Amino acid sequence: MTDRLTIRRPDDWHVHLRDGAMLAAVAGWTARQFARAIVMPNLTPPVTTIAAAAAYRDRIIAALPAGTAFTPLMTCYLTDAADADEIARGHGEGVFTACKLYPAHATTNSAHGVTDIFALAPVLERMQAIGMPLLVHGEVTDREVDIFDREAVFIDRTLTPLVKAFPALKIVLEHITTAEAVAFVNDAPDTVAATITPQHMLINRNAIFDGGIRPHAYCLPVAKREVHRAAVRAAATSGSPKFFLGTDSAPHGVARKEAACGCAGIFNAPIALESYAIAFDEDGALDRLEGFASEHGPRFYGLPLNDGTVTLERATVAVPAVIGEGDTAVVPFHGGETIGWRLVD
Ligand code: DOR
Ligand code: ZN
Repeated sequence: MTDRLTIRRPDDWHVHLRDGAMLAAVAGWTARQFARAIVMPNLTPPVTTIAAAAAYRDRIIAALPAGTAFTPLMTCYLTDAADADEIARGHGEGVFTACKLYPAHATTNSAHGVTDIFALAPVLERMQAIGMPLLVHGEVTDREVDIFDREAVFIDRTLTPLVKAFPALKIVLEHITTAEAVAFVNDAPDTVAATITPQHMLINRNAIFDGGIRPHAYCLPVAKREVHRAAVRAAATSGSPKFFLGTDSAPHGVARKEAACGCAGIFNAPIALESYAIAFDEDGALDRLEGFASEHGPRFYGLPLNDGTVTLERATVAVPAVIGEGDTAVVPFHGGETIGWRLVD
């Protein structure tokens, strides 16, 4: 039995670091585990310009202790008014690593999202030409569609024609939750990849209703049936370079989660690698964690692999029920539970 695992330093290819006091409270957790992170742009207002992204990057770095070795990789929030020239210039200047597609009203702070992605063809053509990835929140927003079907329907209605129309565009289907998404990504060309969160490897939708409503198990896309959790987990542990780590760590203050209309998002940053290790360990796939966490992502993005390593060890760890205080008190994934892995400092 492997009790200690040292892997190349990993990256988080999808995280919400927020802004202001919450940024100051959470950024260190991600920087402790990861060398780089793709930072989501769904602030209020959303990050749509080079200037806004550069300023946000500076605020992230300022929120960390001086000298912390962490690189935020910034994203541009696509709106119906997205400008191909601004996006290409931002990519060329090294400010924008990728663009994020939120279908309008799909999730938190997506009101300014895109109403028709095909209307942005000039932007997508430019991104395709310069090798800039499109990161996709893959859910339809049609309220007629059952919430548990929204990812699968998005793949049929939008993603399949999108991949056909832009065959050289790099596309990451973010935080996949269904067997349909796994099959789609596996069958798609090498230009298409997916990120997988720890929660979608570890919980199914029963966790949201376990003896009562459990707001801290609610995120979007919402966890699905067990058969889907198993398919997503098999994809992550398969060794396929199309699947890589993206935590979707999405902190919301306790009062915003434990409310009549609680926000979507699971804050997993403090125990992200530990959570992935639990799943890979249970499946006898710890030897594939390094590829998933540290190699597949940079290769897809065309970025160098990190130097240095991190070490995980088998240990009994009590996860705090709440992390932080006041407005930045957040309940972490596994809060109040005991887990069997620890990241060694
Ligand atoms: O659960 C989620 N939380 N899903 C998202 O897509 C957005 C995120 C957030 O920003 O809170
Ligand atoms: Zn997200």
